[in-house]
Amino acid sequence: MTAPGAFIIFGATGDLARRMLFPSLYFLDQDGHLPVGLRIVGAARHALSDNDFRAQVEDWVRERAGEHFSNEAWAAFSERLSYSNGDATEPDTFHRLKAKLEGTDEKIFYLSTSPALYTPIVRGLAAADLSDAPNRIIVEKPIGKSRATCEAINTVIAERFTEDRIFRIDHYLGKETVQNLIALRFGNALFEPLWNRHAIDHVQITIAETIGVEGRFSYYDEYGATRDMVQNHMLQLLCLIAMEPPTNLRPESVRGEKVKVLRSLRPVRTSQLQSQTVRGQYTRGVTDGKTVPGYVEEEGGKPSDTETFVALCAYIDNWRWAGVPFYLRTGKRMPERASEIVIQFRDVPHSIFGANPLMANRLTIRLQPEEEIALLIMNKTPTLGHDYELKPLSLDLSLDDAFTDTAGGIPRRRIAYERLLLEAINNNSTLFVRRDEAEAAWLWIDRIVDGWARTGMKPAPYPAGSWGPAGAFALTERNGHSWYE
Ligand code: BG6
Repeated sequence: MTAPGAFIIFGATGDLARRMLFPSLYFLDQDGHLPVGLRIVGAARHALSDNDFRAQVEDWVRERAGEHFSNEAWAAFSERLSYSNGDATEPDTFHRLKAKLEGTDEKIFYLSTSPALYTPIVRGLAAADLSDAPNRIIVEKPIGKSRATCEAINTVIAERFTEDRIFRIDHYLGKETVQNLIALRFGNALFEPLWNRHAIDHVQITIAETIGVEGRFSYYDEYGATRDMVQNHMLQLLCLIAMEPPTNLRPESVRGEKVKVLRSLRPVRTSQLQSQTVRGQYTRGVTDGKTVPGYVEEEGGKPSDTETFVALCAYIDNWRWAGVPFYLRTGKRMPERASEIVIQFRDVPHSIFGANPLMANRLTIRLQPEEEIALLIMNKTPTLGHDYELKPLSLDLSLDDAFTDTAGGIPRRRIAYERLLLEAINNNSTLFVRRDEAEAAWLWIDRIVDGWARTGMKPAPYPAGSWGPAGAFALTERNGHSWYE
């Protein structure tokens, strides 16, 4: 395999490119991971010269890199950069791009635009003969808004790019602790005998954010929390927790196991919407010590039925997980930024410690803000008396240094995109979502969102800075459980 010669970003002046993609490529280059001679071409509508574009990217990279910025590394990186402008719906755009790419062999196209442009871009690439092997394509979420629309986009892409050349990105799969979850499960014999309905009582997955919609109202209002976060990030996390051990780490092995989980998700019936799903929308309140407007006030007060919070109780119908609730919740304007997975083990079958309360073991895998893995176990308090005094102790299973990278000097946390961009450059699709996975995830989500639309189930209000509407607590309490905060 030859190394790719060009990496082209459509939507190069957009928010994702600015905050994540260019800084990630810069860091990869600074740490010596980019192939020699790889050119990075930004493509967008604005008319910009190569130099103007470089100056813009420099501002973005400086802002993100802070103390990690190096003039020397920047000088080398900026040599790679150039810009090609044009409207994605016009054939000329692609011919100009092709001329710009003259002399480069393998190309990787990154679609970081509005999903409405995916089809025209893929067609434009094909018409300019840019879609043949070995060229590859990386596609950002959301791919569609439903199974049908996802299928339609996938079909257009598949007419021009074979599945092994399509990289559907989910940045959660690039996070260090998510990777570590695989190591924890399949690099240790300890957990596997317990990793099932006999030992695990329930699982909680929370992705709480303090931010609101951050200037993305028009996108977000169309999608809402369920399509924006659950269909992709949360179901991917669920898959990694619930999947069977894959034969190896090759793309088809891992993705084959994940899709089995998605297909085993029990569909939520209309009669279960009230008991298994909760929608919420934030109203004015206080987060991060500041009074913030309610969701609808962010865009001039126009009423909206979009949920900014969702909590779901999911079941996986297979031998390993039958009857084990998987609680998922995510929301904007929560009291804190916290993303974590909690594996709650069952109580001991019989306590020999009299009145001493016992807490069941709990494995917490924290993705944000810190990355850590901790196991709660019961421990004896060191006393002389013959009565046992027990207390829960949290065993830290993570090494502080494990989550930072010292390459390039000062230690820093890697951006999740760095790993994923590098994997795509190296042509390894294990950490990317296969077509059938994306479509199976939509199928499960469709039933829920269609059910809400059909039954008129509106989001319940919750004040910004709270953990969502009361219904979210009732969701777990119904089964005798409660959320860990
Ligand atoms: C994105 C969503 O995919 O993930 C955003 O579109 C969300 O709405 C973001 O804020 C969260 O990502 P992270 O890595 O900050 O948890």
